[in-house]
Amino acid sequence: ERAAALRDVASLIRAVPDFPSPGILFRDITPVLREPAAMAAALRLHLDAVADLAGSIDRIVGVESRGFLFGMPIAHALGVGFVPARKPGKLPAATVTQAYALEYGEGTLHMHADALEAGDRVLLVDDLLATGGTAGAAARLVQRLGGEVVASLFLIELPFLKGRERLAPLRVEALLSF
Ligand code: PRP
Ligand code: ADE
Repeated sequence: ERAAALRDVASLIRAVPDFPSPGILFRDITPVLREPAAMAAALRLHLDAVADLAGSIDRIVGVESRGFLFGMPIAHALGVGFVPARKPGKLPAATVTQAYALEYGEGTLHMHADALEAGDRVLLVDDLLATGGTAGAAARLVQRLGGEVVASLFLIELPFLKGRERLAPLRVEALLSF
């Protein structure tokens, strides 16, 4: 059942000290991705967390690069399109851009200026919520394109970094907390 599936997925998330910089405990999801049963369980858990939104979402926005991994299969399962929010220099056409800070640095996200239609209802997907800087920037880009971020969905939340508070009043769904 759900608790067992969560335990199985959690057991495959590897904690790597001092990556990418000293003092950071990095939560590595690649051991989940390499096990078909765990990957399927994780996808099922993501879909269950937003089951109430099926039929009322127009697009998934996934954040480069780990937000692509579950974002795309979630979009496919919900029968909606996928829009990437990307790091600089990757998207070929005209973009809107937003700078942000994250747990271990800073960055800039871009979205294609024509990627959403006004009024699109968006589910934001990423693998991990830390400070919320990244997800907040992605949400801002969606808003600037006239979309509405209906909810955000993460495999992992690091509650001590208070990303959920930062994203408030946005709905935040996270499957595991460390
Ligand atoms: C990681 C993670 C989130 C972000 C969370 O991405 O995938 O996008 O950090 O941190 P925050 O809540 O403090 O903003 P990273 O920038 O390392 O890029 P990657 O997905 O390409 O590895
Ligand atoms: N993104 C931000 N903080 C992270 C962490 N501790 N592990 C993995 N990805 C992250």
